[in-house]
Amino acid sequence: MPLEGKAFRDLRLKLFNLENKNKPLQGLGYFPQKHSATGTTIFTVMSALAQQYNAINLSQGFPDFHIDPQLSQALGDAARNGFNQYAPMAGLPPLRQAVAANFKKRYGLDIDPENEITITPGATYAIYTAFTSILQAGDEVIVLEPAYDSYIPNIEMNGAKVVPVALTAPGFHVDWNKVKDAITPLTKAIIINTPHNPGGSIWNKKDWDELAGLVRDTDIVIVSDEVYEQLVFDGMKHYSVLEHPELRQRSFAIYSFGKVYNCTGWKIGYCIAPPAFTQAFRRIHQFLSFTVNTPAQHALTYILSNDTAPAIHEVMQKKRDHFLSLMKQIPFTIYEPAKGSYFQIAGYERISDLPDMEFAQWLTKEHGVATIPLSPFYSNKKDDKLIRFCFAKKEETLNEAVERLKRLV
Ligand SMILES: Cc1ncc(COP(=O)(O)O)c(C=O)c1O
Repeated sequence: MPLEGKAFRDLRLKLFNLENKNKPLQGLGYFPQKHSATGTTIFTVMSALAQQYNAINLSQGFPDFHIDPQLSQALGDAARNGFNQYAPMAGLPPLRQAVAANFKKRYGLDIDPENEITITPGATYAIYTAFTSILQAGDEVIVLEPAYDSYIPNIEMNGAKVVPVALTAPGFHVDWNKVKDAITPLTKAIIINTPHNPGGSIWNKKDWDELAGLVRDTDIVIVSDEVYEQLVFDGMKHYSVLEHPELRQRSFAIYSFGKVYNCTGWKIGYCIAPPAFTQAFRRIHQFLSFTVNTPAQHALTYILSNDTAPAIHEVMQKKRDHFLSLMKQIPFTIYEPAKGSYFQIAGYERISDLPDMEFAQWLTKEHGVATIPLSPFYSNKKDDKLIRFCFAKKEETLNEAVERLKRLV
């Protein structure tokens, strides 16, 4: 006999877990927990602490110097010239064409601007959108840790499960046997980040070949976060997933203009992926932000075609070298100079045996220099007693930070 009335209602509430449905809002506990991260990100925490203690902020990854005046001029011009309404969903065609021409010039790659490039409001958004376009509840995603903090919440928000694999500290290289062991029939994706935040390491061609060997004959998708692709030092080369013909067919490659033109606050980036992947990506994107800040797209189109500033890797390598030479005066351990990115990892075992969170807070409060501890980049909060310095700063900022740190000696 079919259930009716109260019995039906009770069963429905139980089955669909709707007990809370008609309750008044009762604090945060009322809302569904979409991911496992708690509180605010470590970047927000450390930047707030830096402000509170008037510390020099070498924690969050952003430049403290001005952008190229040509770029700010182009942004203002675009707004003044009336380019202030919605841009096309996939991004301004001239910007996508300029990105394709730039990849042809720098990598010799042919990329179809119409069907393979989508402009996004930042790389973080593009990573989320890529995950959302492929993941279903129950899928597994391999994350190499330490990892940029949005990856895990983004995977979990899609109902998928994170399978963490630790990189070998302090060099942050991949242990391929561990990756192989982590792959199961449920593995849907692997997220890669090179040059690496926070580790400063970069992948070589052999790494990509190893990955290709593991995913061959599977339907595993690669999400390749390459936001620091133009920040590689000492004459080394960034290998993009797009340069690996076999992997390119199964990959979303993600970039950020913020890291190339020192305008992280503009939050604008792009995703390059094969046509079918791009279609799936846009199917989500068109109902999230739909489109991206129009004047910024015009300004970036201009700068991509008229850039006269020195290459950003040269600017940033000078900063890394300057920072490393200053750091010789204080007892941090530099295991390896950063090969890429904005970041230098350092050990502090000659200064303190505090856990890394406490050490970073102590350094901010007592010595006026904010850094980022590494344990929040691991899902199990593994503490290797390492901290991350951001050297994408003015020379005087780095000088003043190290002056303050000299008091540690
Ligand atoms: C590894 C990594 N991916 C993505 C991003 C975010 O880029 P965007 O600001 O364009 O979202 C960052 C920013 O710090 C990063 O370090």
